[in-house]
Amino acid sequence: MKFFLDTANITEIKNILPLGVVAGVTTNPSLIAQEKQDIRAVIREIAALTPGPVSAEVISTKFEDMLPEAHGLAQLGKNVVIKVPVTVDGLKTVSALAADGIKTNVTLIFSVNQALLAARAGAAFVSPFVGRLDDISQDGIALIKDTADVFAIHGIGTEIIAASIRHPLHVTQAALAGAHIATVPAKVLVSLLNHPLTDAGIQRFLSDWQKANM
Ligand code: E4P
Repeated sequence: MKFFLDTANITEIKNILPLGVVAGVTTNPSLIAQEKQDIRAVIREIAALTPGPVSAEVISTKFEDMLPEAHGLAQLGKNVVIKVPVTVDGLKTVSALAADGIKTNVTLIFSVNQALLAARAGAAFVSPFVGRLDDISQDGIALIKDTADVFAIHGIGTEIIAASIRHPLHVTQAALAGAHIATVPAKVLVSLLNHPLTDAGIQRFLSDWQKANM
């Protein structure tokens, strides 16, 4: 499983990229709004920094508006992937963009059937939302596993991005369930490194070293 960073914050991206674990970035309108900057400027900068796919989401809800908006976003970088909601107009847009060779990430996936339709429309990525399902007492990780199983049974190459990841356990569970990618907030990604025995081990090595070299 690969890692994408789920943020529109340039400082976070600059801080985390040197770890060498980030294969892409996902944004959404809520994350872009937090930056209080023009979406085009933000996406252009993220795309230039990131050595992999950068998802930029359309705001339009009608096909006639979504398609030109998507084409505009696709101009912001060669690695820009268009994030589209899983609606009738969204799938029309995915299909038209696929015909033009533009990659899409179909978002707000909450069922296997939505993921299957998105894949058949030509999506490069689908984003099932784990945390938001858990929030309503449904099993977000089960959705990842079922989608991965269905894609494997039918030889579907669309990559599954486990989205709405809230904590380290989600990451392990998404990897075990067969997600190709987890898109993770910077805080959660860094927290994956935490273990009290690692901290205690470093302290013990340092203190043994100091004792021996007094
Ligand atoms: C990423 O593609 C999603 O937009 C994001 O993971 C949603 O996360 P949230 O449910 O924590 O807002």
